[in-house]
Amino acid sequence: MSTNNKQQLTKNHIIGVLGAGSMGAGIAQIAATQEHKVILVDLNEEALSKAEASLKKILARLVEKERINEATSNAIIGRIKFSNNINDFANCGIVIEAIIENLDIKQKVFTQLESIVSDDCVLASNTSSLSIASIASACKKSERVIGIHFFNPAPLMPLVEIIPAVQTSENTKNASRQLIDDWKKVTVLTKDTPGFIVNRVARPFYGEALKIYEEGIADFATIDWAMTELGEFRMGPFTLMDYIGNDINYTVTETVFAAFYCDPRYRPSFTQKRHSEAGWFGRKTGRGYYDYSEGAVKPEPNKNEELGKEIVNRIVVMLINEAADALFLNIATKEDIDLAMTKGVNYPAGLLKWADAIGLEEVLLRLEFLHAEYGDDRYRPSVLLRRMVRDNQTFY
Ligand SMILES: NC(=O)c1ccc[n+]([C@@H]2O[C@H](COP(=O)([O-])OP(=O)(O)OC[C@H]3O[C@@H](n4cnc5c(N)ncnc54)[C@H](O)[C@@H]3O)[C@@H](O)[C@H]2O)c1
Repeated sequence: MSTNNKQQLTKNHIIGVLGAGSMGAGIAQIAATQEHKVILVDLNEEALSKAEASLKKILARLVEKERINEATSNAIIGRIKFSNNINDFANCGIVIEAIIENLDIKQKVFTQLESIVSDDCVLASNTSSLSIASIASACKKSERVIGIHFFNPAPLMPLVEIIPAVQTSENTKNASRQLIDDWKKVTVLTKDTPGFIVNRVARPFYGEALKIYEEGIADFATIDWAMTELGEFRMGPFTLMDYIGNDINYTVTETVFAAFYCDPRYRPSFTQKRHSEAGWFGRKTGRGYYDYSEGAVKPEPNKNEELGKEIVNRIVVMLINEAADALFLNIATKEDIDLAMTKGVNYPAGLLKWADAIGLEEVLLRLEFLHAEYGDDRYRPSVLLRRMVRDNQTFY
């Protein structure tokens, strides 16, 4: 694969995956299922054997459910080489890095990768929160570096964000996107800005829910009930934060807040910080916003429709405002912003389509009400919404 000429990444290219944790193992499974030879490297032997065991278990389950046969399962596992030697990447067409989320370590690893792979090899990072430009800067041929952001669990979640850095060549961008499209994923193209599309636009789902709780408007169970029953989201914000882990979700919020120069729209919450400090991470520690210990009784929500609608309206207009602002700032197209939220985090509808359905004037009114009531810039409506209402426009 040349990063300068118009060449493609095909089934003949070997796929390298660095880091055999939950993301790396999932990405390796996808590539091997798509008939690529895969080299999965981790420095930690235990992580490698865990990845191999878990992959075998997943494939066995697929055979049991008759989704694939025994021969296919054997072929998939047979295509993956589990290795602790990074030099095994020498003949790869692309290496996708999925190691610890630490810029220093990633930069060192990318410098090392460049000394191992051929001149034509694409180097991709699965980072959730670091800038691709800063990772690419560790390479001499920075035009070959790109962000390819899968969602967890990678084999099941259809969305992949493709993130060219300012240094990334057109050819690296096109070949990478084509490869992931060939893997039957839904790709969206996004600018190299904090949180990309999903982790930026989704912030109010957590942040506004936490604020509603902190103001004493409703408890966790009631907010979750409103968002699932009335808002038709698959999971309520507190159930979802407990699932993701409050440690991880809080860190993402703090990172995005800092990266946006402390824009109050992304301000983290003390409630989540304290839950994280207490070790109440969620399901994985048995306690988060809810108690997951055996015999624990789930709290009952207050099923007051009026209150429920107030909660849903407030969170949804804040989400729409984020989506509109991402479009205003050319982070992605309106189609990609809507696809990202439905395919990456299972929202019941694209937020910009949803805005049209509510009516942009109504969305703006609700935001202006919040802005005036709180006097907090967190609630400032996107300029795009104001202009569209003024000009009587809709998103679609
Ligand atoms: N977990 C998620 O939900 C998720 C979703 C999207 C993106 N990501 C991103 O994917 C990356 C990996 O996340 P994860 O959840 O799979 O992490 P993880 O902790 O499960 O796995 C990371 C693996 O990398 C290995 N590793 C660390 N340093 C290494 C090095 N220098 N060389 C080789 N291997 C090394 C570790 O041994 C470990 O097995 C991170 O950048 C994260 O931000 C995570």
